[in-house]
Amino acid sequence: MSHIVVLGAGVIGLSSALRVQAEGHTVTIVARDFPTGSETVDAQSQINYTSPWGGAHNRLVPPTTPSEEREHAMSLRTFDHMRAVQSRQPEAGITFMKGIEYVEAPSEAYSALTEDKALKQLRMEGFRLLPSEELPQGVTWGCEYDTWCVNPMVYCSYLLRRFAILGGKVLKREVRDPREIFHLNFEAGPVDTVINASGNGFGDENMFITRGQTCLVANACPATVTRQNADGSWTFSVPRNFDGGTIIGGTKEPNNWDSKPSLEVRETLLRKFTATYPQILGSEGKFTVMKDIVGRRPTRKGGMRLEAENLDGNKRIIHAYGLGGRGYELSWGVADEVARLLAGPSSSI
Ligand SMILES: Cc1cc2nc3c(=O)[nH]c(=O)nc-3n(C[C@H](O)[C@H](O)[C@H](O)COP(=O)(O)OP(=O)(O)OC[C@H]3O[C@@H](n4cnc5c(N)ncnc54)[C@H](O)[C@@H]3O)c2cc1C
Ligand SMILES: *[C@@H]1O[C@H](CO)[C@@H](O)[C@H](O)[C@H]1NC(C)=O
Ligand SMILES: *[C@@H]1O[C@H](CO)[C@@H](O)[C@H](O)[C@H]1NC(C)=O
Repeated sequence: MSHIVVLGAGVIGLSSALRVQAEGHTVTIVARDFPTGSETVDAQSQINYTSPWGGAHNRLVPPTTPSEEREHAMSLRTFDHMRAVQSRQPEAGITFMKGIEYVEAPSEAYSALTEDKALKQLRMEGFRLLPSEELPQGVTWGCEYDTWCVNPMVYCSYLLRRFAILGGKVLKREVRDPREIFHLNFEAGPVDTVINASGNGFGDENMFITRGQTCLVANACPATVTRQNADGSWTFSVPRNFDGGTIIGGTKEPNNWDSKPSLEVRETLLRKFTATYPQILGSEGKFTVMKDIVGRRPTRKGGMRLEAENLDGNKRIIHAYGLGGRGYELSWGVADEVARLLAGPSSSI
């Protein structure tokens, strides 16, 4: 068994580290940012660390292309894993609940979806199409299904704790390139493989960010609700249980590097969500705003990069980045693929 370094302690690095550790390897995580209480993550200096700023919920994306099919399979794999962890370790920060979807102008992928197909072929447990009397004004298609949400920093801290108790080591360090890691001195010995889970990372010209502004409110919400508006904008809630409030979102703005939240956007998000799901206001009839959030989804032209690259001297990098807005949803599918690439012959590419 060999010494593997995972570069990155976002949801992808942490899941991959645990998965590879389960194969019997010695694993060290090297990262600039590690999970911490969400109250203390710095909105400016840690804006490039995406995992604290994600929702994070699991949603159905009805697959219509081979890459969407692959992602759907990864989301099912993650769903099963989340359920197993949740039943074993309720402190992990995972909650199962209903996912409600509302669409104003459904594409064929939605309008052609039958309950039979969703339940049997797409394996969406608890799937039900919503009759028109259950839809908010302006919505023409809706469904609900069983899904999960995590409180991101509770969940990521759980992954890190689990990794440590199983013998994993960590090094808090910023590097300029993953290749630098092969030259560092580790107690666990020389490094054979680096897993590049650096999120927004460096240098890949296909990478871009998708800015997301959301608002964290103290109000509780019993379901995760997503509405796709006809103008292309999104209105959603993601409960952050374990006393984390609820995320009300959110924008998707490719290549917008503005790190400051806009008050006007906050007001629009809250107003649109109230029109969609008035129950959110609770008995007090108002929102209690905790903070505005800006995050940068690590997005990649052509989709995620999940492949092995051989370097000289029997060294390898396994790339696992570019998860965009789906890092949590697909995390365990990605981790499985990382383990598969690691087990594969190092001369395969
Ligand atoms: C508003 C918003 C809502 C979202 N909602 C959801 C959702 O509902 N469901 C979902 O699945 N996803 C959601 N996402 C997306 C999700 O948060 C990301 O896909 C995920 O967090 C990406 O994780 P990652 O591990 O790839 O990257 P990151 O979390 O960014 O982690 C990268 C790691 O690499 C380290 N690193 C980077 N560069 C260096 C370096 N040079 N040296 C050392 N370390 C380095 C960092 O310190 C960090 O530890 C959302 C994102 C946003 C912004
Ligand atoms: C975030 O990443 C960008 C692009 O690499 C960089 O220019 C910026 O300095 C980083 N911000 C912080 C706060 O590290
Ligand atoms: C590692 O991943 C980052 C994305 O996070 C990418 O920009 C970079 O090119 C990768 N490193 C190498 C050596 O390929």
